[in-house]
Amino acid sequence: MQILGIDIGGSGVKGAPVDLINGKLATDRFRIPTPQPSKPELVAKVVAQIARHFDWNGPIGCTFPAIIRHGVIKSAANVDQDWIGVDAPALFLEHTGCPVRVLNDADAAGVAEMEFGAGRGRMGTVIMLTLGTGIGSAVFVDGVLVPNTEFGHIEVRGKDAEHRASDRIRKEEDLSWKAWAKRLNEFLNRMEFLLSPDLFIIGGGVSKKHEKFFKYLDLETEIIPAQLRNEAGIVGAAMAAKDLA
Ligand code: BGC
Repeated sequence: MQILGIDIGGSGVKGAPVDLINGKLATDRFRIPTPQPSKPELVAKVVAQIARHFDWNGPIGCTFPAIIRHGVIKSAANVDQDWIGVDAPALFLEHTGCPVRVLNDADAAGVAEMEFGAGRGRMGTVIMLTLGTGIGSAVFVDGVLVPNTEFGHIEVRGKDAEHRASDRIRKEEDLSWKAWAKRLNEFLNRMEFLLSPDLFIIGGGVSKKHEKFFKYLDLETEIIPAQLRNEAGIVGAAMAAKDLA
């Protein structure tokens, strides 16, 4: 079965039909830059453009970088504030004519990694962290997701963790890998203290450069890079919409 997965990020909206049997994209993905400002109506138009590109009229799974409770957007750390209170599935249905399921971007990436990637078969407490514009988190206990965790916003040295240790901050502050890894380590140590995880999975674009910074980390917990890379969100979004089919 194929479902259209769409990953809404701070800089791009990417989509592709996903084969749910093997978790692979059925065709090349299609990407459109995220409208700036990222107002709900403008982003919904882009979602509809992606659906049209694939001639899609079935279920759609969609990620969004925020807390999402029963479809309603509850936070807006890295997107336009107008999103707060928006019923995202209803808005996207209006624009695409398709039934849409919407979930947090890190939760989606985590779901895909647990099924088809680095977390396959891993029991206990697994924490997936996506390091990008912000820091997203997804927590799994024996393979079951605890949705909407927001560990990128725990406070480290008086700041949101994502304002010290996201990949955006690494680039903006031109931090060396070592200096950035030190900040990341502080954050991961805090996560270890709070949750006693069995495994960290590190996702986001920077995870493909893991050999540049994993060597500086000093943790008790096993840490591995994500495997699905920038496809994880699309795949996880499609998986989440399976029951709409
Ligand atoms: C948001 C999360 C999101 C993460 C990664 C954070 O700022 O609060 O909901 O998962 O960024 O995009």
